[in-house]
Amino acid sequence: MALYSEKVMDHFRNPRNVGFLADADGVGEVGNAKCGDIMKVYLKIDNDTVSDVKFETFGCGSAIAASSMATEMIKGKPLPEVLKLTNKAVAEALDGLPAHKLHCSVLAEEAVRAAIKDYYDKNGVEYDQSQFPDCASCHICGE
Ligand code: FES
Repeated sequence: MALYSEKVMDHFRNPRNVGFLADADGVGEVGNAKCGDIMKVYLKIDNDTVSDVKFETFGCGSAIAASSMATEMIKGKPLPEVLKLTNKAVAEALDGLPAHKLHCSVLAEEAVRAAIKDYYDKNGVEYDQSQFPDCASCHICGE
């Protein structure tokens, strides 16, 4: 069996929604301390719904494929639904990632979450802090 699924290869070779939004309502940038990869997500939000999304990922092929898939999965979705996006769902939508590459999909989930938090913060929207784990409560990068 090939290491990477057809879908991973497709999203790696032809990533959807690459770029940035100059008029983004929320921007989220996260990095993985171990591999040094960085992902930035830009959201345009109308009526509590993601009306447009772009990403810039400086990282491995799996991270690029996961970013691309994640943006496809959240476009046009209401924020409460977007907040339920998990890295597991992104990896499944890609027909799986090798075990040692699963952390790359975590980057996508976190970048989306960070962008929503940025939008909430900028607009004075109240939210449940536990939906946005900070470094102290996260053990992904082992810092
Ligand atoms: Fe760093 Fe994939 S190896 S995100």
